[in-house]
Amino acid sequence: MHNLQKKKASILALCGKGGVGKTSLSATIVKILSSDPNNKVLAIDADPAVGLSGALGIDVTKTVDDIRNELILRVESGKTTDKAEMLSMLDYEMLSAMEEHKNIAFLAIGRPEKEGCYCQVNHILKDLIASMADNFDYVVIDGEAGIEQVNRRVMEKVSHLILVSDASAKGINVVKTIKEVSDTAIEYEKAGLILNRLRSKTEYEKLVIPAELDCLGWVPEDETIRSYDIEGKSILEIDDSPAIAAVEKCLSEMGLLAHLARISHEEN
Ligand SMILES: Nc1ncnc2c1ncn2[C@@H]1O[C@H](COP(=O)(O)OP(=O)(O)OP(=O)(O)O)[C@@H](O)[C@H]1O
Ligand SMILES: [Mg+2]
Repeated sequence: MHNLQKKKASILALCGKGGVGKTSLSATIVKILSSDPNNKVLAIDADPAVGLSGALGIDVTKTVDDIRNELILRVESGKTTDKAEMLSMLDYEMLSAMEEHKNIAFLAIGRPEKEGCYCQVNHILKDLIASMADNFDYVVIDGEAGIEQVNRRVMEKVSHLILVSDASAKGINVVKTIKEVSDTAIEYEKAGLILNRLRSKTEYEKLVIPAELDCLGWVPEDETIRSYDIEGKSILEIDDSPAIAAVEKCLSEMGLLAHLARISHEEN
């Protein structure tokens, strides 16, 4: 029997200052969520520098922006003007741009080459991504530094905004600003901070975290994450590591992993 009532996907977007670990944590989250074979996970690389595919060991053949640029060319040359025709072409192209590995699907947004307002194309693409998201239980978006950018190019709404910072005052300041901008610019249900690459619990306890940032927890500096990155290996292949366990706790803190919710926050 078909389940007529579709479950709404939880949409997680990660953002923060450059180099703080957004891509590594996005890949780790994809790994954790997809470890349950019943979960369908869509990973979206919204960073023009395209890093998430590498962290997940997935080859990108086509990005959403490649499709967008092709369509703009068609519109400009007068080949396509009909909206229905545009939609069916995009539908097909988007499906072919999606890479699938078991219960994980992957979509790279790419780099917009054409500046200017191609509002109709942008809207259609955003609608398509949103309707594709409905086929998944979780969508994980590895964003670039500004959440507005994610919002403008990828999705109108996220359910879980995950702010990532290292221990630096600069990193924390950046997420504070992102949170302020997000409060007015985007729709989200929950926001939480993950502090990455901390050396010890003492370092975590010494940090002054602005009251408006709800801290989900901290992730230790993890040799496995570092060496997998250096060797170009997929985070999906890591069996277990301190960083994975710490990210799991952060997700359960956000109510994303009901079965892990009982894990005590004090365990560290
Ligand atoms: N917990 C961790 N332990 C050890 N190394 C880490 C950890 N998290 C991230 N790194 C390393 O830090 C570097 C930057 O991480 P990553 O690429 O995930 O950051 P980013 O925020 O996505 O960067 P960018 O802004 O350039 O996209 C990488 O070399 C990665 O392997
Ligand atoms: Mg990155």
